[in-house]
Amino acid sequence: MTSSSTLAVPETRPVPRHVAIIMDGNGRWATRRHLPRTAGHAKGVQAVRRVVEACGRRGVEYLTLFAFSSENWRRPVDEVSLLMRLFVQALEREVDKLQEQGVRLHVVGDLSAFEPRLQELIAQAQARTAANDRLHLCVAANYGGRWDILQATRAMLAARPELAAHPERIDEAALAPHLSMAWAPEPDLFIRTGGEQRISNFLIWQLAYTELYFTDRYWPDFGDEEIAAAFEWYRSRERRFGRTSAQLAAGTAAGA
Ligand code: FPP
Repeated sequence: MTSSSTLAVPETRPVPRHVAIIMDGNGRWATRRHLPRTAGHAKGVQAVRRVVEACGRRGVEYLTLFAFSSENWRRPVDEVSLLMRLFVQALEREVDKLQEQGVRLHVVGDLSAFEPRLQELIAQAQARTAANDRLHLCVAANYGGRWDILQATRAMLAARPELAAHPERIDEAALAPHLSMAWAPEPDLFIRTGGEQRISNFLIWQLAYTELYFTDRYWPDFGDEEIAAAFEWYRSRERRFGRTSAQLAAGTAAGA
């Protein structure tokens, strides 16, 4: 399923259908407590559990979490190894729970860089949860928005080589089906914890009309209450998708 906020005005609902989160502040949470940064990541896994449950309960259909960016390889070797171990542990220990909760797991990103054991666990977890549809949990790992647009371009040209000789025929509808999250609607709400206000090469194509919410709260302290606050803020937004307030009020604009 592909949907595009620039080709058609999407339906706006009181609860965001798709929430995308940059889980920032793990390191600072730990440093403040005189703990190693890695302790913050371990605590961050508990916040992931809370937020998956909260979103499922609140009627979110798609939740995308930025777990490891294509730039996170620049971190100290020990921290990268710990993060990889946490992914392996989470895949080994949490899949039963996802299954009970009706959660379908997807992992997007350039997975070829991961060790074979991790790639195998990812494939197994995706296959095991493939029939679930209560909540789609998408973990972005070794993901970068620019990587996604480039891999989609390559895939599009491989599928339709004639486009290389006719670039004028390349449009959104030709490219979008090849993006790694083409099966999901675009995010309605983006949340970044930890106080920074940037997108950090996350879903740069898909965030075109997403509402952006930033909070100072560190990720390990995030849970149902913070989700409720973000959703309340989201409900107060006027989503115009290029139209005017007057058009929305009159209900005259296409898709209003
Ligand atoms: C950003 O905090 C967080 C990460 C780069 C990793 C996020 C990983 C987890 C929450 C744990 C594993 C997740 C799953 C889905 C199993 P930071 O280290 O940049 O914090 P800082 O800005 O305070 O240094």
